[in-house]
Amino acid sequence: MKPEKILIVEDNETMRIGLTESLKRENYIVSAFENGPEALKNFLLNPAPAAIVDLKMEPMDGITVLAELKRINPKTEVIMISAYGTVETAVKAMQLGAFDFLTKPFSPDELRLRVKKVFEKINNEQKIEDLLEHNRLLNEELYTGYDDIVGKSSPIKKIFSIIEQVADKGSVVLIQGESGTGKELVARAIHRKSNRSANSFIKINCGALNENLLESELFGHEKGAFTGAIKNKKGRFELADKGTLFLDEIGDVSPAMQVKLLRVLQEGEFERVGGEETIKTDVRVICATNKDLQKLIIEGKFREDLYYRLSVIPINIPSLRERKEDIVDLVDHFLKKTSEKNHTELKTINKEGLKLLIDYPWPGNIREVENLIERLSVISTSKEIDAALIAQHIGRSINVFNGYGNLPLEEAVYSFEKNLIIEAMRKAGGVKNKAAKILGINTSVLYYKLEKFNLL
Ligand SMILES: Nc1ncnc2c1ncn2[C@@H]1O[C@H](COP(=O)(O)OP(=O)(O)OP(=O)(O)O)[C@@H](O)[C@H]1O
Ligand SMILES: [Mg+2]
Repeated sequence: MKPEKILIVEDNETMRIGLTESLKRENYIVSAFENGPEALKNFLLNPAPAAIVDLKMEPMDGITVLAELKRINPKTEVIMISAYGTVETAVKAMQLGAFDFLTKPFSPDELRLRVKKVFEKINNEQKIEDLLEHNRLLNEELYTGYDDIVGKSSPIKKIFSIIEQVADKGSVVLIQGESGTGKELVARAIHRKSNRSANSFIKINCGALNENLLESELFGHEKGAFTGAIKNKKGRFELADKGTLFLDEIGDVSPAMQVKLLRVLQEGEFERVGGEETIKTDVRVICATNKDLQKLIIEGKFREDLYYRLSVIPINIPSLRERKEDIVDLVDHFLKKTSEKNHTELKTINKEGLKLLIDYPWPGNIREVENLIERLSVISTSKEIDAALIAQHIGRSINVFNGYGNLPLEEAVYSFEKNLIIEAMRKAGGVKNKAAKILGINTSVLYYKLEKFNLL
């Protein structure tokens, strides 16, 4: 029989080593961690069928770890261990689906027996699952379908695989990445792939609203709660019930609001502003930020406990600079998109142009690619967008031989002059004497040139 994997989460070092050693002797493959967040991070990519979890730990207690393990992989069987095992916590653990509850101290034999029992159950269930899965695979096409997320770089592939793994789990997802890297796109993909996709995806930009407004937008309000509250209003947590709530710019939330969010995330309940009634909600929360939350924690601006709540499933989207191999695909994608949107001919970019685009650092990431390609497609009068035009737009001085290298001198000069005139006309909003000023020529000369280049 192949060796079985088991996860241990125990903050006490002696205990952790003891457990690890005695299970290793039984040929189990053990991954041991001293706290919940670390263990969960690993578990996400490397799930185990069984886990042993200590109850009393910091910063995340064992009950929370149990709940998250179950959310990430409902089939994982968990044995809780504690020296403080009260009836109450044992009951809570069982309700959350723990398989067993062991009170410290226990003998190695006792541990072995319980772990053996867990795996008997798991293996039985696995046999049935295998049969079902075999059938399903025969019938199903294995297409993943991320048409709107372009990219083949390994970081993007990794993000696809995380989306696949987490879509159906209810755990909170925290998406971090620079502005324009596609955080919202990923959030929507998770929703679309989840079993909540038939229900709403509700978005709120936490950074755009002041504290009071944000509170009433998130939780709703009762009529008369404040001036202007003329009728009852449902908040986004209610509107997103059974669906997904996307909290954008979570790093911009005030300390008071952070406390309120912590509560609704922990207990799944809240009150409307000015309301008495406690409202229950079943919402999958996805957050995003372009801020460094770890840094905000150190600066005392973001609560650490909230961070742990939010970062159960962290997804970091690298900047475009860190995955330059996606640039060409993205450029193609946006050339196509622009031509479809504007019903215009599909423009192309030659090798020189692509080189410039690959070399550029893209501070605005994919959004900047999208905007630039759209702009270039619209202003380029030729089917092939000139490298010189690209250079102008990304603020690069182009070696005149770049982009014109293959042209005879006369044609290169013609093309260069034409581009300069187009650019001046664009900057001048089409007003000819303004454009003439930009170019430092007379309006009559400009007329002559516009005619020459077929631009009139
Ligand atoms: N991999 C991708 N493939 C295709 N389009 C993408 C990709 N990533 C992002 N985009 C597009 O780029 C634009 C910006 O993406 P999005 O709004 O998801 O970024 P963001 O990270 O949420 O940015 P911000 O931090 O500014 O809110 C959108 O129009 C989106 O469709
Ligand atoms: Mg965004």
